[in-house]
Amino acid sequence: MKTSIVVKFGGTSVSTVKSWKTIARVVKQRLKEVDRVIIVVSAIAGISDTLDELCQTTDPAQRQLLLDEIETRHYQLINKLKISKSFYYDRQFALLGYSVKNYRIGDPVSYARVMALGEMMSAMIGEAFLRSQKIPMTLLLARNLLLATDDGYTDTACIFSPILEEQRFLAEGKRRVFITGGFVARNDNDETVLLGRGGSDTSATLIAGGIKAQRCEIWSNVPGFYSTDPRTVSEAKLIRKLSYEEAQEIALMGAKVLHPRAIAPLLPEQIELRLCSTDDYRAEGTVISGQVQTGDSMIKAISVKDKILLLQMASLQMWRQAGFLSDIFACFKRHGLSVDLVATSEATVCVSLDKGMAERRPRLDALLADLGNFCRVKQIPSCLAISLIGRSIRSILPKISKILTLFDNQIVYLVSQSANNLSVTFVVDSQRGARLVQRMHRLLFSGKTSVDVFGSSWSDLQGHQQASQLPKWWIDKRQQLLTLMQQHDMLYVYDLETVGKALQQLQSIEAVDRIYYAVKANTCRQVLTFLADKGCGLECVSQGELIYLEQAQLNSSDVLFTPNFCQRDEYSYALQHRYQVTVDNLYVLEKWGDLWRGQEIFLRIDPGGGRGHHRHVTTGGVRSKFGIARSDITKVRKIIDQYKIKIKGLHVHSGSGILTSDDWRWRAEMLAELLDELPDVKIFNLGGGFGVPEHPQDQRLAIDAVAKSLAEVKDRLSGIDLWIEPGRYLVAEAGVLLAKVTQIKRKDGVTFVGLTTGMNSLIRPALYDSYHQIFNLSRLDDRKQETVDIVGPICESADNFGNARQLPPCQEGDVLLIANAGAYGATMSSGYNLRRPADELILD
Ligand code: LLP
Repeated sequence: MKTSIVVKFGGTSVSTVKSWKTIARVVKQRLKEVDRVIIVVSAIAGISDTLDELCQTTDPAQRQLLLDEIETRHYQLINKLKISKSFYYDRQFALLGYSVKNYRIGDPVSYARVMALGEMMSAMIGEAFLRSQKIPMTLLLARNLLLATDDGYTDTACIFSPILEEQRFLAEGKRRVFITGGFVARNDNDETVLLGRGGSDTSATLIAGGIKAQRCEIWSNVPGFYSTDPRTVSEAKLIRKLSYEEAQEIALMGAKVLHPRAIAPLLPEQIELRLCSTDDYRAEGTVISGQVQTGDSMIKAISVKDKILLLQMASLQMWRQAGFLSDIFACFKRHGLSVDLVATSEATVCVSLDKGMAERRPRLDALLADLGNFCRVKQIPSCLAISLIGRSIRSILPKISKILTLFDNQIVYLVSQSANNLSVTFVVDSQRGARLVQRMHRLLFSGKTSVDVFGSSWSDLQGHQQASQLPKWWIDKRQQLLTLMQQHDMLYVYDLETVGKALQQLQSIEAVDRIYYAVKANTCRQVLTFLADKGCGLECVSQGELIYLEQAQLNSSDVLFTPNFCQRDEYSYALQHRYQVTVDNLYVLEKWGDLWRGQEIFLRIDPGGGRGHHRHVTTGGVRSKFGIARSDITKVRKIIDQYKIKIKGLHVHSGSGILTSDDWRWRAEMLAELLDELPDVKIFNLGGGFGVPEHPQDQRLAIDAVAKSLAEVKDRLSGIDLWIEPGRYLVAEAGVLLAKVTQIKRKDGVTFVGLTTGMNSLIRPALYDSYHQIFNLSRLDDRKQETVDIVGPICESADNFGNARQLPPCQEGDVLLIANAGAYGATMSSGYNLRRPADELILD
């Protein structure tokens, strides 16, 4: 039996010379694999819309304009492809002109005839071009291959049923490559009918199923399904493989990559479906098949549908009204409107209608009137349905528990689990939807995901970074860095100019009276001296840090000591040396009262809730070990009166890596509520936590917005000075970790690039799933065409700097650069495995 592959190319993939050349290349490659290739094409991008417009207008001048536009676009492509101008094309356009002239608006038969032209023209152009590329071609008429199984014209269900002639063509031994248009079929009356927008996918899979192809491939300008829509979340990851059911669910729940009807024809023969991209034909795509591995239940995608309409229907009889559901659903049937999600209780039913259904206004009004006989109906328009999709989703609910916290302060109208155990959907207000999806995606997919299932992120693949992302000082100093690395195996390098720029940013917040640099972020001596010289105070959290500053003879007389759960001796040391101490536990004051007698101290207050880039770095709320509860202030009063302690200032820090600008205002407002009870307070230390973007999708913290909100607060707080103690913001982007490639390993389809150092130098990815951008500094300008995991030499599976990153092919000795490593990099390094962590160096 003949082996075949069906390859379908979408509108953008048949619109340029470049993509037609890719098609030729793909077809030649597939011919090495199988006996015959069947190409299915869509209309050139935009042509179906113009044809549709043509059918909606009665103005002859407008019609002519649109006809000319259609003709010009095709002839432009024909010219560029350098194929001869066959008279067949003119004949097609003449036919189109004729059909349009006799066209009656609203007549589905002639509408289908006009619309079919787009696919026909693509197939004809394709035949001529591929022939010119020495591929022997046979053109098959789309309407001769597929037969409608219902009596519709524009969104018809079909089967593969070629007429005799096409059957003969397909069977002939010498014919190997066929081309046909998608989207079009015929009915029993031999009229042209359409498969609905996006229906060319289904044409391809119907043909693949009909001829029992080995594989079907759908080519477009995206490589496949993503964990969510990359236009909303550029960190969305390519899904490498899916089961048929999962792919269908994702398509049904809103992803536009594949027509949901396209899956069914592949099921009887279990034909593999591959999604591929003509923009990068070597890039991996999504493979959809019946092969599902046990244990591979996980959330694979977040799908989003917008503009859906919710109908909440409450029974007039309240409860035990037999047949209530049946009455309601009979109304939907009568008015031909199908519902999507359903939630029921004894006397209330809530359903959702997709955008397409919700827009059928006269029908909807009639439905609502009809429903009024049985129930009270409340409409909630323009909602957003966010679905989490994955096989056996009910068995992995604990994995989604973390995202439930995101619904704090959010109205959730409906929660629904699909009966096929493939999805859980939340219907919410559409206004905050995009942000919610971004945060959900971050929680579910930003860490280490299965390399077996997920590939590179969209942004990695595009090689694009938002311009505002990294101040890439290291691009300008690349040569200097590479020269340095001739003498080192691994190295932290810092750029003081970048530290200076970050400081200027924070200094622009006028309401802030004093900046204390949190030295824990980076204790490199030159960094500390640089910041102290520029007028920063320094903030320490241990006696060790205090002694380090003394030994380094830093000329900062202004040092804060803000420890947590330290020993009594550390406090004594700090007080003796006249450092400004902050206390964050009443025990310390109660039990060691003598220590504090007559002292002026700060109190650290728990803001009651935390924020930050990871739960390990949020420092507020009941489970947080930091700070004194606000409700304990009365107790504080008693103790300070007893020991004559003066509370000079209040301190608050809610977490680290915060990118929303309102956090510091919120902290200040919270502290302001305590002023009545603590009249001596003259200073608010609002802590640190100023974040920097890590993911390419992260927005920069808007310092001007922080400045504005703090200015407003300060206006209201007369006589209170505001301090901050940033760490990360000042140093993160000024530092990079450089390491060399030691080995490359390819195993079961995964490529590992090994580096000279690992989590012993930079533990943040292992500890917080932090994202650090990684570049091959030795090959910065080469094409990023390999998907790799970047790992270190430490004997821990967590010793991994990044998964499924896109890099140029790496070679032993190449220098890789891990960005954003200036904060909490070297200071958190260790000698684990007795491997020396990277040394630190300041660039001249
Ligand atoms: N003030 C206090 C009381 C702190 O606890 C911290 C950080 C800061 C200021 C400085 O926060 P920053 O501005 O750097 O966010 N190792 C983690 C960060 C831990 C932060 C600990 N406290 C990371 O690598 O993300």
